[in-house]
Amino acid sequence: MIVRISDDALALACGADAVAEAFAKKGHEVHRVSSWGMHWLEPLVEVNGVGWGPVTTDRVDEICDGKADDICIGPVEAHPFIAGQQRLTFARAGKTRPTSIDDYEATGGWEGWKRARTMDPADIIREVTESGLRGRGGAGFPAGIKWKTVADAKNPRKYVVVNADEGDSGTFADRMLMEGDPFQLIEGMAIAAYAVGAQTAYIYTRSEYPHAIAKMEEAIRKAAPIISPLHMEVRTGAGAYVCGEETSLLNSLEGKRGEVRAKPPLPALEGFMGCPTVVNNVLTMAAIPHILAEGGAEEYAKLGIDRSKGTMPIQIAGNIKHGGLYEVAFGIPLSKLIYDIGGGTQSGRPVKAVQVGGPLGAYIHPDQFDIPFDYEAYAQADALIGHAGITVFDDTADMGAMARFAMEFCAAESCGKCTPCRIGAVRGVEIIDRIRHGGRKRDTIELAPVMHNAPKDAGRLPEQEVGLLTDLCETMKFGSLCALGGFTPYPVMSALKHWPEDFFGKGQEQK
Ligand code: NAI
Ligand code: SF4
Repeated sequence: MIVRISDDALALACGADAVAEAFAKKGHEVHRVSSWGMHWLEPLVEVNGVGWGPVTTDRVDEICDGKADDICIGPVEAHPFIAGQQRLTFARAGKTRPTSIDDYEATGGWEGWKRARTMDPADIIREVTESGLRGRGGAGFPAGIKWKTVADAKNPRKYVVVNADEGDSGTFADRMLMEGDPFQLIEGMAIAAYAVGAQTAYIYTRSEYPHAIAKMEEAIRKAAPIISPLHMEVRTGAGAYVCGEETSLLNSLEGKRGEVRAKPPLPALEGFMGCPTVVNNVLTMAAIPHILAEGGAEEYAKLGIDRSKGTMPIQIAGNIKHGGLYEVAFGIPLSKLIYDIGGGTQSGRPVKAVQVGGPLGAYIHPDQFDIPFDYEAYAQADALIGHAGITVFDDTADMGAMARFAMEFCAAESCGKCTPCRIGAVRGVEIIDRIRHGGRKRDTIELAPVMHNAPKDAGRLPEQEVGLLTDLCETMKFGSLCALGGFTPYPVMSALKHWPEDFFGKGQEQK
């Protein structure tokens, strides 16, 4: 009997190795495959397409006998969490052994690369542009236009750099892709390098991802003859969140301190070692093989809404019953993701807020849960999609404390280059503390007229401090050099707007 068990880091953390060993001891052939992305079911065991999860070693005998009905989920592909998805980037998730080049080839691997090699580089870039693919790191800049800037640059030395420094809380899609389908990323990078004329490609990732690093390195060794003469390497950062910002990433890659560079010049013109460089997120690059396969660009452009084309691997995390990776075309509302797909909170309590886009993303109020997942629709609501991590909070969350955390996080992770962020974040913590401790007794404002859905007894906030916090957030938003300082106001101001009552702190007497 062939037993399939994931070797993704999350499955390992849930005890997948022990379960795999128990099946092997019974004489079964165990295949370590990528994860389906149904995290609450890991370790998930699959035999002839039927799944059981979460499995513990003491259930192995029952599964071998086709029993353990209470944890049997039936055919894995028919599970609603999987059946409802439109998997392009994660098409192989759960299906292949990550570092088996045979598995990769048998499932359509290298098709995009083979086709690209028969094409003029300019036509490759045109197809990427026509697919509508936008940068999946968060900013959503059109990938084809970025590639064209690099391709048209005069310098003969060019680079491709993949940003795999996935630092946002509640995000794990880059990690899962690198651990589960490393050849797909390599194929995308090889196509990008060929299209723009780059000789060297780097994957910059974080030391917290040891499994991803090992698998990427093994896959690069195996793929070397296919992508030759392209040189590809994995480089590991030292744990600074700001190194996810492209210019500090490039500094770190060059062996310098991970400090943000002013733009312009854009990395597309003067990037790694001063040469034109494509910097794309893992998910952007991993979408490329599908787009370059026959008819792929057209199919991709048909998915999604408005200017947000294709699919997005959404990462559902936090206080949620069914967390995991859900790839779907743009346009899906949060209400569907949280209630229908995620099953509501793990605690069983009402959802209070959802943070979309990592620690710098806005807190979305349940009244906004019908906003379609779309770059422009989120921007209009003073929010961002970012890397598509969604973190769910129940009604016990203290949003005043979460706003404070955003400022604290910014103060800790600031690279220190510009004043609004370096100083502003520290002052932000202080102001929020003053508000939460009642502020000055005079000059308070009635909350009911200004707050969203205000209850009649909403109380009062110290007006002076609230004004100061608002001004500070404006300064950080428009005066910071990069997104770290510039986006910290999103969680702070959304928390203040929707849950001002939480700024009084727990058990705090209102003044
Ligand atoms: P940006 O808007 O400055 O640039 C986006 C990308 O387009 C960059 O690579 C830039 O070099 C490139 N670009 C812009 N104009 C170009 C042109 N004319 N030609 C060629 N390339 C051009 O945004 P930035 O600062 O790179 O990223 C901000 C985003 O990062 C935010 O939207 C946020 O969502 C996201 N973010 C993501 C995090 C993560 O962990 N993935 C963490 C924090 C923020
Ligand atoms: Fe550095 Fe913060 Fe300024 Fe970005 S906003 S350059 S992280 S100090």
